[in-house]
Amino acid sequence: MHKKAHTHAAKPKTEGNTLDGMAPFYDKFVQMLTLGKDKKTRLETISLAKIKPGEQVLEVGCGTGSLAIAAAQKVETKGAVFGIDPAPKMIEIAQRKTTKANLLVEYRVGVIEDLPYPDNSMDIVLSSLMMHHLPDHLKTIGLIEVNRVLKPGGRLAIVELDSSRFSLINFVHGRITSENRFALELKQLMLSNGFCEVEIKDMRYGSLTFLMGTKLS
Ligand SMILES: C[S@@+](CC[C@H](N)C(=O)[O-])C[C@H]1O[C@@H](n2cnc3c(N)ncnc32)[C@H](O)[C@@H]1O
Repeated sequence: MHKKAHTHAAKPKTEGNTLDGMAPFYDKFVQMLTLGKDKKTRLETISLAKIKPGEQVLEVGCGTGSLAIAAAQKVETKGAVFGIDPAPKMIEIAQRKTTKANLLVEYRVGVIEDLPYPDNSMDIVLSSLMMHHLPDHLKTIGLIEVNRVLKPGGRLAIVELDSSRFSLINFVHGRITSENRFALELKQLMLSNGFCEVEIKDMRYGSLTFLMGTKLS
């Protein structure tokens, strides 16, 4: 694994909502969203995703790297963690935090719709608070790309906002619904694009929901 990140690449074109300008404040924002339980939320994600030592893990839309760092601690030196995000400032902060934690994550500036990884190479792909930043057609293209890079039987784990639970962010975006609609739509999209056994679970903090599915062998 290379220690140096590909952080100086130009910002790639995407119709996703890249959060480059928000990068310096992003960790504070997540602290607020989870009412100070951001670290516990990352650990809960790693636990629900059943990440094990030795696994090859990719986080798509890794932002400032908090979840990728938690994954790197879990896979230990036998495994490897990769992170991509189209926002160069996010990747710079992620690299800085990872180096400070004395861990290895191979970061790249990149997009879910064109993943720079070989077919069948990852045990698990993580997508945390990212899918709602994509227009619908990119969600489908992204899921097809994720499916391509996963090994047969590999997992896709998604953390998203649960629109059926009250939170400031859902309220501000006018996203409160009677059921966990976004997760249910994502589940259908996963089932239509090469995944099976998709499960949805509530998370403890931040009105978050967790989905996990397996690549059809
Ligand atoms: C809300 S942040 C989530 C960051 C991190 N995963 C977390 O859990 O804190 C969403 C991220 O998705 C990224 N993003 C937007 N469009 C994308 C795309 N087409 N491919 C990959 N990531 C994208 C944004 O730049 C941003 O960093």
